[in-house]
Amino acid sequence: MHNTHEITHNIFWVGGNERRLSRFENMFPLNNGIAYNAFVIIDEKTALLDTVDVSISDLFLTNVQYALNGKTLDYLIINHMEPDHCGNIVTMLRHYPNVKLVGNAKTFQFFEQFYPIDAKANYMIIKDQDELSLGKHTLKFFTAPMVHWPEVMFTYETSEKILFSADAFGTFGGLNGGIFADECDFNLDYLSESRRYYSNIVGKFGGPVQSILSKFNELEINMICPLHGPLYRGAELAFIIQKYEQWSTYQPEVQSVLLIYGSMYNNTEMVVDVLANKLARFGIKNMKIMDISQYDLSYVIAEIWKYSNIVIATPTYNADVFYKNHALLHEMAALNVQNRKISLIFNSSWGGKSQETVTGYLSKLKNISLIGEPLLIKSTLKEDNEPALEALATSIFNSFQ
Ligand code: FEO
Repeated sequence: MHNTHEITHNIFWVGGNERRLSRFENMFPLNNGIAYNAFVIIDEKTALLDTVDVSISDLFLTNVQYALNGKTLDYLIINHMEPDHCGNIVTMLRHYPNVKLVGNAKTFQFFEQFYPIDAKANYMIIKDQDELSLGKHTLKFFTAPMVHWPEVMFTYETSEKILFSADAFGTFGGLNGGIFADECDFNLDYLSESRRYYSNIVGKFGGPVQSILSKFNELEINMICPLHGPLYRGAELAFIIQKYEQWSTYQPEVQSVLLIYGSMYNNTEMVVDVLANKLARFGIKNMKIMDISQYDLSYVIAEIWKYSNIVIATPTYNADVFYKNHALLHEMAALNVQNRKISLIFNSSWGGKSQETVTGYLSKLKNISLIGEPLLIKSTLKEDNEPALEALATSIFNSFQ
């Protein structure tokens, strides 16, 4: 049985959901699975835009055959050569041996790395802004290197003004029946997962995202079809573009404080609770405290993308930074976190080099302001620490003025 949807006349969604997968890329926890989107366009010539992960191959093949309704497949557009999307290219070649595989030079370099078969006779190598007419529909290709791999391209369908945007605008989470963002409660069910997807998967590449977004300033877009999650049209389309502008320029969404701590025996936690209480008394609202030990780091990274001010509190472990704080700082540097106000709290019982390690990581981040003096605690918070804690709270409060 197929499960397809005609998103507009003669353009079909032929993707599917995978809800048994517990971790995307075997790293990022999934609470409600993931959707792999792919599309068929029916015209004088037919085209399939991307394939799906091998985990849903059977459904995908049924969907494609249903949408084609007995026609052959003329073109397979490869917007992204990562296995969650290219996992069925070889299957398509088997079923449609004359299909033209449409990609750029890098696409086929990666294709041969993943699939060492000779399919050169099927290649159609295109360059940035080349066009392909299917009849009434015309596809225009835009290379989008590093959003999220070097070979990525976006495809713009000119008659319906649909942008097929590869991983960009994707989100974690399977589709809940509705295929469009306006058919579900996007803010409740997808926004935080969309932010977690962006920050962890594409977040490192803010510059390339900005560069591809600027190419579309002049183009009218009626619909965005990413490779994961709901499709966007109308108000939801404007909303997600505005979010991408913010996320890719590392602009915080919330002017408030995110306090992240590691704590073995609740002593560092106590410092953070008292600091947050002081900040609330100053009038700062909508703060969030996260015990780093309770979260997969991808959730912490997503919140870092959201908040303007971040407090990092770390105990000392093995004479260095508590290991999850260490991992977080490594990820912040790897993902190019920028433009944040950061305050530091260190707790140690007998010494170590936590401060040196944290300072080393922060020196790799761009546009970071260190707010207040780092607060140094010996094992537990004491009345002696009060002036320094008050001074730190005042500095953080003043950073909003
Ligand atoms: Fe959804 Fe970069 O793969």
